[in-house]
Amino acid sequence: MTPKSVFGFSILNLGLCVTVLALDTEDFPFNLPKGSGPWIRPTVGNPWPFPQQWKTSNEFLVIRPNLFQFKTLQSKCELLDIAFKRYYDLVFRPPRLFRCKSCKRHKHWKSDSSFVGYLDTLNIFLNRPCTEKPELNMDEHYELKIDTDDNPGEALLVSQSVWGILRGLETFSQIIYSSPNGIAFQVNRTYVNDFPRFSHRGLLLDTSRHYLSPRIIKKNLDLMAQSKLNVFHWHITDDPSFPFESEKFPQLSALGAFNRYSHTYTKSDVREIIEYARLRGIRVIPEFDTPGHTQSFGNALPQLLTPCFGKDGKPDGTFGPMNPVLNSTYKFMEEFFSEISTTFPDHYLHLGGDEVPFECWASNPHIVDFMKRNGFVGNYSRLEQFYMQKLTDIVDSLQKGYIVWQEVFDNNVELANDTVIHVWKGEDLYSKEMAKVTSAGFQAILSSPWYLNYLHYGIDWPRYYMADPHNFSGSDEQKRLVIGGEACMWGEFVDNTNVIPLTWPRASVVAERLWSAKTVTDAKKAAPRLEEHRCRMVIRGFNVEPSNGVNFCQVAWD
Ligand SMILES: *[C@@H]1O[C@H](CO)[C@@H](O)[C@H](O)[C@H]1NC(C)=O
Ligand SMILES: *[C@@H]1O[C@H](CO)[C@@H](O)[C@H](O)[C@H]1NC(C)=O
Ligand SMILES: *[C@@H]1O[C@H](CO)[C@@H](O)[C@H](O)[C@H]1NC(C)=O
Ligand SMILES: *[C@@H]1O[C@H](CO)[C@@H](O)[C@H](O)[C@H]1NC(C)=O
Ligand SMILES: *[C@@H]1O[C@H](CO)[C@@H](O)[C@H](O)[C@H]1NC(C)=O
Repeated sequence: MTPKSVFGFSILNLGLCVTVLALDTEDFPFNLPKGSGPWIRPTVGNPWPFPQQWKTSNEFLVIRPNLFQFKTLQSKCELLDIAFKRYYDLVFRPPRLFRCKSCKRHKHWKSDSSFVGYLDTLNIFLNRPCTEKPELNMDEHYELKIDTDDNPGEALLVSQSVWGILRGLETFSQIIYSSPNGIAFQVNRTYVNDFPRFSHRGLLLDTSRHYLSPRIIKKNLDLMAQSKLNVFHWHITDDPSFPFESEKFPQLSALGAFNRYSHTYTKSDVREIIEYARLRGIRVIPEFDTPGHTQSFGNALPQLLTPCFGKDGKPDGTFGPMNPVLNSTYKFMEEFFSEISTTFPDHYLHLGGDEVPFECWASNPHIVDFMKRNGFVGNYSRLEQFYMQKLTDIVDSLQKGYIVWQEVFDNNVELANDTVIHVWKGEDLYSKEMAKVTSAGFQAILSSPWYLNYLHYGIDWPRYYMADPHNFSGSDEQKRLVIGGEACMWGEFVDNTNVIPLTWPRASVVAERLWSAKTVTDAKKAAPRLEEHRCRMVIRGFNVEPSNGVNFCQVAWD
């Protein structure tokens, strides 16, 4: 699922050529203005992703930060108390909020005929108990009313679930805007009724090819919440390094991390990341990809991997995928995954299962012999199936569900009926696979069109915007089995220095596709709103890259 590095290089080089040719708007589906000024002017006080239902007026209220408060009526919910503090700071004390120092601080709104009053409270109605952890199919529906006809002078946020309240708080924080001189916070009379189109809206980050510090992972979680993404797919280990500190097998990271003292995730790092995500309504799904992509396991436990043999019939000193013919491999998997299944509270684990190379298995006489004895006759997919079957049986026995890359399904592994198949191949040509997976009755998530690590010069986001997980022919029942998708940022060329600017706001575009109504597809209409969303993230202190060419954000740069 990751580009070969050679390919990665060629893309980067192409980027440079394209710069010279200035084909900057090649993929943009409408004409951009040229000449002076920004190409795209940001909207003011518009939300991202676009709500299912959003009505707004030109009449506005003024919020005085020193008087403003969030108020709940139901019993104590710590998660919300923390969220109120977080959102208060995001809205009223963002690090790069522009404030005109030389402007007269006159109360300009008093003479504005659209000014209808002050808003000092957001009343929160949570109709159900404060839920413990986010999960697939969690309820994220909310309703937000700011001085509506049925609630004059009041602001209400209502939901059946704490996750809906979190999503509503984000929307509320986005529709508040500052006056041009930055001295007042305003919000228009508004009605929002909102819920996601898909339940699984994820971002994959890869911490094996480059280590990402917990601080940077948390910043990504902040940004996910700002685009209402709700699954952090943590591709935590792979061939290059093993940064996860296992309690049962500490030698895996001691010998498999890039640096055991500085490039690992301790138990408490992992716990903190999961908690940070939970407070934002984000699930953390770890992926320990096997049987391929496992070279880093071999630093500590070489007996797990298949010894490859040379033409001379002797081991050549290199290793292939997990050794599927030894019972000790499965003994390890049982112990390892029983630890993982308690470390990570989500019902789902991602078991990988992609891109298994067969050459090494084929070179090894013990494997060939095993295959003969079991009647696999040269069919290495069968052997892969044998391995995945044992692994999924183990995970079944741990009462966990699993997500697997599409190859596992393609190779006919027998899977539990709540398995989620992760479709990643084919870039724009994923329709057949989505149809196949769902016609077999499995749930599917889509990533094919959303490999953000493939960089393109110019305005690249409309290609992500146009892709749709439902773009395949199939019955309504099949469409219902599509539970969402994930943007993927593979780690060959990103680390702490650039993962945030390269991921955002491009992942926000995927987030809108997965949250908003199917009919919200007009990139021309979305562009000014995306522009505002990008600037909002910058104002909130995140180094998020420009996405629409020539422009500026109204920020106080440091
Ligand atoms: C909010 O109201 C102002 C005028 O008071 C108007 O210019 C602006 O377009 C409105 N914004 C939204 C999102 O309704
Ligand atoms: C591996 O396990 C299987 C099934 O439990 C058993 O039949 C087989 O003898 C074991 N092999 C070895 C080498 O222990
Ligand atoms: C190889 O095994 C796979 C998985 O069981 C199966 O789907 C496929 O049909 C087999 N191929 C051949 C040529 O037998
Ligand atoms: C899976 O099968 C069980 C019964 O075996 C059923 O109760 C459950 O609803 C099914 N789940 C899905 C997602 O189809
Ligand atoms: C939908 O899929 C078809 C066939 O794969 C493709 O030609 C078309 O461009 C896709 N449409 C969108 C909106 O992605």
